[in-house]
Amino acid sequence: MSAPLGVYVHWPFCKSKCPYCDFNSHVRDGVEQDRWRAALLRELEHAAREAPARRVETIFFGGGTPSLMDAAIVDAVIERTKALWDTAADIEITLEANPTSVEADRFAALAEAGVNRVSLGVQALDAASLRFLGREHSPDEAIAALETARRHFARYSFDLIYARPGQTVDAWAAELERALGLAGEHLSLYQLTIERGTRFFTDHARGAFTLPGEEEAAAMFEFTQARLAAAGLPAYEISNHAKPGAACRHNLIYWRYQDYVGVGPGAHGRFAENDGKRATRRTSGPEAWLESVERTGHGTAETSLIVGQDLVEEALMMGLRLADGVDRALFASMTGAEPVAVLGETRLAPLVAAGYLEVDATHLKATAAGRQRLNALLERLIA
Ligand SMILES: C[S@@+](CC[C@H](N)C(=O)[O-])C[C@H]1O[C@@H](n2cnc3c(N)ncnc32)[C@H](O)[C@@H]1O
Ligand code: SF4
Repeated sequence: MSAPLGVYVHWPFCKSKCPYCDFNSHVRDGVEQDRWRAALLRELEHAAREAPARRVETIFFGGGTPSLMDAAIVDAVIERTKALWDTAADIEITLEANPTSVEADRFAALAEAGVNRVSLGVQALDAASLRFLGREHSPDEAIAALETARRHFARYSFDLIYARPGQTVDAWAAELERALGLAGEHLSLYQLTIERGTRFFTDHARGAFTLPGEEEAAAMFEFTQARLAAAGLPAYEISNHAKPGAACRHNLIYWRYQDYVGVGPGAHGRFAENDGKRATRRTSGPEAWLESVERTGHGTAETSLIVGQDLVEEALMMGLRLADGVDRALFASMTGAEPVAVLGETRLAPLVAAGYLEVDATHLKATAAGRQRLNALLERLIA
């Protein structure tokens, strides 16, 4: 009756579009917050019919920039979630925020609405890098927003993007030291990736900037792993670091391949159904999604049942991102396949010998070196 569930809520609007970002985020002159409130609540009701009789452990407001949502919408979504499902007493409610002063001014109201964890997109700690990344905040504004977050929320994290053009390992080490001085229990540290369809993709293609070479980027990744472990925030996933017990519980649901529903434009869901997982994806375009929800009660663009080999592959792709790897017994109970048996000795042994994988009695995991080149590793495993 009460299998755990995560609820993801997507807010697709931003004040401006950052040149590196390929998230489902859009700039609009005005957002009819009342219409959006009603539509999100309606699709939430639809999600409760899709995945009923669960206990909600986490809610995650992602974007886009959910710190631009009216606190009243956040409040209404939380209240409606509690009315639709059983909810854990220690529910984790995270909201992604941009660290501008305007948004920090809303933190009190968001905390009042029930948000108990924020994740701030700081991205860099110097003005020139923030300008390059197209960010609207200064380093001081970001630091002030972190202080406001610390006052209002039990838990906070922030994001940095490294391996930026011109950045050396030493420069990143110095930035990371400053970051550790500002950090609480959790940090997300992403290597800059150039995504198709972004402005950086065209800029990079015409040679407007160059990224650090592969070796230098690898050295930055390795330095990050070692320094954060020494500071007591070891990596628990490729890009995520936390004190013991302080991992983002919502994101762990994805990586452990547990159940979640998604509401809002472009949101994905995965939840157990028969012997597989029901996969849902909502329409990405904000206006198309809104119209669909108003017309039909939901904005689902696609839904399918994942079973068999597809289920095993997806669970593996998610689980190997985690430092703990996949729990062999849990994996078997979810997919019907014991991962070590299904992958087989001939495929696993060379990857173990090369130092990319580890197998013990309870877990199958990628080493730090394996996590760093996870796509290549998965190709060898799933081929
Ligand atoms: C949805 S955004 C965060 C929320 C908020 N809109 C913000 O920008 O502060 C999630 C995070 O992904 C990271 N990110 C997005 N695009 C990236 C890219 N191309 N390379 C590396 N990190 C990226 C950024 O650190 C960003 O904060
Ligand atoms: S990084 Fe954040 S603020 Fe920038 S466009 Fe993407 S979602 Fe919006």
